[in-house]
Formats: sequence, C-alpha cells, structure tokens
Amino acid sequence: MSLFITFEGTDGSGKSTQARLLADALRRRGHRVVETREPGGTDLGEGIRELILGPAAPDATPLAMTLLYSASRAQLVDAVIRPALDAGAIVIADRYIDSTLAYQGHGLGLDRGLLRAINDIATGGLMPSITVVVDIEPEVAMSRTERRGGPNRFDAESATFHRRVRDGYLALAETEPQRWIVVNGSGSPAEVHAEIVRQLEPRLPTLEEAS
Ligand code: TMP
Repeated sequence: MSLFITFEGTDGSGKSTQARLLADALRRRGHRVVETREPGGTDLGEGIRELILGPAAPDATPLAMTLLYSASRAQLVDAVIRPALDAGAIVIADRYIDSTLAYQGHGLGLDRGLLRAINDIATGGLMPSITVVVDIEPEVAMSRTERRGGPNRFDAESATFHRRVRDGYLALAETEPQRWIVVNGSGSPAEVHAEIVRQLEPRLPTLEEAS
C-alpha cells in the first residue's frame, strides 16, 4: 500500500529534520520510502529553488513566485511522487501545496481560491493522505534559523509574517482534521519525533500492507 505524507511548518520549525527521522524510522521497519522536498526534488525543481532563494527573488511578485513554486511542484508530482506511489512506496515530502496556502495565501494575502486552482492544475489534484505540521512559536523558529545561518528570503522579514503563516497552518489543520497532525515542535528532535510516531502509528500501514 502506498502512502503520501507531507511535512509542513514555518522556517526553522524543524520539519526537515523530522521528515528525515520519520523516513529513517519507516525504512528500519522495512518500508520502501521516497523522500523529497519543495521547492526542488527534481533537476528542474532544484533549479527553480536556486532562483527562488537567490538574489533575484525579492523583486518577484507574489503571483510570479507562486507560479514558480507550482512549476516545481508540477514537475515533482509527475517525475517523482506519482511514479513512487504507483510503485507502492511511502512518499515523504518536505513541503507541498499547504506551503503555498500558508505562505502565499495566509502570509502574503493572495486569494486562496486562486492558489487552490493553480495547484489543482500543477498536481492534477493529488493530495497527501497525512500532513504533519511541526508547530512552533515564530520567535523560537526565527532564532533557530538565525543560529543556522544561510540564505532564506523570509529570515529578514518580520515575526508578524511568520505568525500569519503559522496561524494559516493551524487554520488549514482545523478545516481538515482527518488529514492533519499538529505536533508541538519546541522539544528536542528526538522528543518531537517520538510524538510524531505516537500520533501517526494508528494510521501507518503494517509492513505487509506497504510492501
Ligand atoms: P525550505 O527552507 O523549507 O526548503 O523552504 C524554502 C522557502 O520557500 C521557505 O521560506 C518557504 C517557502 N515556500 C513558499 O513560500 N511557498 C511554497 O509553496 C513552498 C513550497 C515554499
């Protein structure tokens, strides 16, 4: 049985670490797992990622940015996610459509109906079965990203923006509780991982089902 799981959260939430820890844990149980990320995950997507996180991006309009994220997503769905699901793997994606709804929608104020329509085209309607949001206070997340350094276009922006993104995730989770798992991300990586496994356990396929 294939399964599509996405990880979401604000910058510095620790979601990428958690996506990796879950993938490792599932592999140790014998599952076939394909890990990917957005923007990126394909040659085209990684090129788009460089563009988006690079020096030209601050001049881009929110709509232009949305279309770039969506182009990366369209390629990823076709080249990686659908083939992996068709082959019976568990796919774990570090960000997917909910990043666009939270960042470009709740964060930057683009119309969420428009964002959903663009993304329906990009993904052919493919939605994850389970979305884990690693939830954290924006101030804690920002101090983490500052410590980590490296380029990120939202690091320089306000805690207010990150708060809107975070509230956006929580609002999205409320409208579809059967898909979302909300996990407090303020603990150590091991503690957060244990909580994710605890909440996911009832929904994970048994080894026989997934192989
Ligand atoms: P990452 O650092 O988690 O890889 O994400 C890169 C940045 O891109 C992060 O600041 C969130 C942002 N982003 C959006 O604004 N919209 C999207 O649709 C995606 C996938 C990412």
